[in-house]
Amino acid sequence: MAKFIPVEPFDIVIFGGTGDLSRRKLLPALFHRFMDGQIDSSNRIIAAARSDLTREAFVDIAKDSCREASTSWTKDKWAEFASLVDYIQIDATKADADWDLLRSKLNQDERPLVLYLATTPLIYVATCESLGKAGFNGKNVRLVLEKPIGTDLESARAINEGVGAVFAENSIFRIDHYLGKETVQNLLVLRFANTLFEPIWSRNSIDHVQITVAENIGLEGRSDYYDRSGAVRDMIQNHLLQLLCLTAMEPPNSLDADEVRTEKIKVLNALKRFDPKTVKSQTVRGQYIAGMEGDKPVSSYLDTLSDQEHKSKTETYVAIKTEIENWRWAGVPFYLRTGKRMASRHSEIVIQFKPTPHPLFGHTGHPPNRLVIRLQPDEGVRLFMQIKEPGPGGLHIKSLPLNLSYAENFMLRYPDAYERLLMDVVRGNLALFMRRDEVESAWSWVDNLLAAWAEADQPLEPYVAGTQGPLQAAMLMDRDGREWWEREF
Ligand code: BG6
Repeated sequence: MAKFIPVEPFDIVIFGGTGDLSRRKLLPALFHRFMDGQIDSSNRIIAAARSDLTREAFVDIAKDSCREASTSWTKDKWAEFASLVDYIQIDATKADADWDLLRSKLNQDERPLVLYLATTPLIYVATCESLGKAGFNGKNVRLVLEKPIGTDLESARAINEGVGAVFAENSIFRIDHYLGKETVQNLLVLRFANTLFEPIWSRNSIDHVQITVAENIGLEGRSDYYDRSGAVRDMIQNHLLQLLCLTAMEPPNSLDADEVRTEKIKVLNALKRFDPKTVKSQTVRGQYIAGMEGDKPVSSYLDTLSDQEHKSKTETYVAIKTEIENWRWAGVPFYLRTGKRMASRHSEIVIQFKPTPHPLFGHTGHPPNRLVIRLQPDEGVRLFMQIKEPGPGGLHIKSLPLNLSYAENFMLRYPDAYERLLMDVVRGNLALFMRRDEVESAWSWVDNLLAAWAEADQPLEPYVAGTQGPLQAAMLMDRDGREWWEREF
C-alpha cells in the first residue's frame, strides 16, 4: 500500500483553469489525491479563466478529464469531488477584476491558499500585480509558476523581478514536473542512501554520462507555443538540465530546500560555455520530416504548423556534448539529447563506467559497467555487470543487468508528478522547485548556446519521424569513440 503524508486542508485557484495543463494534469492530479483521501472535503478547487462558462459547464469539462485520466473513477467519488469544484470568469491581469467574487468562494480562514498560474508566462507579472493589489499575497499564499519562465535570461529576470515585487521568494514555487517523477526522486535515494556509488561517482571511475528524453509524440496541438520555443527552450533549459544537476551535484548537507538548490546551482554555474568555432562539433540541431509512427504515416514538422508557407527553422531535436568544469567531473563528457517524433518514448540516464584497466580476458574485451536509470516507461534501475556464460566451450563473458524494476517490486500506480508536487506546494516544501537564481543560471547557459548557434550558423539536420534522430547525432558520439545507448531496457 502507498503511504501518504497528510496535508492540511487548503484552497487552490487555477488561473488558466480551462487550459490544456489544467485539464490534462492538474485536475486529474487533484482528483487522484482526493481519491486517496489526501484532500479534505472542505477544500475549494476553483478554476479561473476568461471564458464565459457556468460552473456546471466547467464541471463537465473537469469530469471528462478526470474520467479519462483515472482507472478508478466512479460516479459517486466524482460527485463528492465535483462538490469542491467551482469556476469563475475573470481577467486576472486587470486591476478591476472581480477579486471579491473570488474571495467569496474561498474558505475564510488561514489555511494555505495555492494560486496556480497555468497561463502564458506573458501575463505572469500583470496577474501578480493585480493579485497583490487585491491582497492575495498574504503569508498563507503559495504562488505556483509553470515553465517556461521566460524565453531567455532577460525575460526570465523580468518575470522574476515583477513576481518577486509582489511575492516573497519562499512563497514562489517554480515547477519543473520532472522533479516530481518518482524515478527522478529515486536518483537522490540511489546516490545518497547507498554507500556503494559515492566513491566511484566521479571522473576517476566514470567515462561519460548520457541523458536522453525521447518522445514519440509530435506537437499535440501546441504548435504556436512550440514553434516559438524549440527543443532547447522547451526541454533542455529545464527538464534535462535538472536531471543533469541531480546526477552531478555534490551531496547536500541536508534535504532542506536551499541546501539542495544550492548544490544544483553550482553544477549549472560550472557548465562549460560554447565557442562558436567549435559548437558545430559538439551539438546537433534537427527537425523531423515525414515518416512513420508504428505503421501510421506522420507528416513533417513543417506540415503540422498552421501556417503552411512558414519555413520554420525551429529544432525538434537536439544533441549536446557538454562538460562540468569542477574537481569531480573535469574531462567527463555529459551527452544530452531530446527530440519529438522519435522511435519510442523513453527517458533514461546512463552512467557509463571506465573499462577495466587491463584486458585479462583477452583483447576482444567486454563492455564496461553501466548504470541505467530508466525514468519512463518501465521505471527502474539496471546495473549492467559482466558474468561468465555457463558452459565448457571456453570463457565467454556476457553483460547482464542487476535489475531493480519498479513494476516487479512495487505493485503501485505511480502517482503523476503533479500529484506529488501539488502536495509539496501545500506543505510549503520548496526542495523540488526551482529557485530564482537556478532558473536564471540555466537560461544564461542556454542563451550562450543559442548565441553560439546563431554566430556559427548551425545547420538544421533533417531526421525521419519515428527514428532515432539525425545521423549527425550518432556521428557526434562516434567522433569520441562512443555510442548512444539504444538497448531495450
Ligand atoms: C513539457 C514539454 O514540459 O514536457 C512538452 O513542454 C513535453 O513538450 C513534456 O512533451 C514531456 O513530459 P513527460 O512527462 O511526458 O515526459
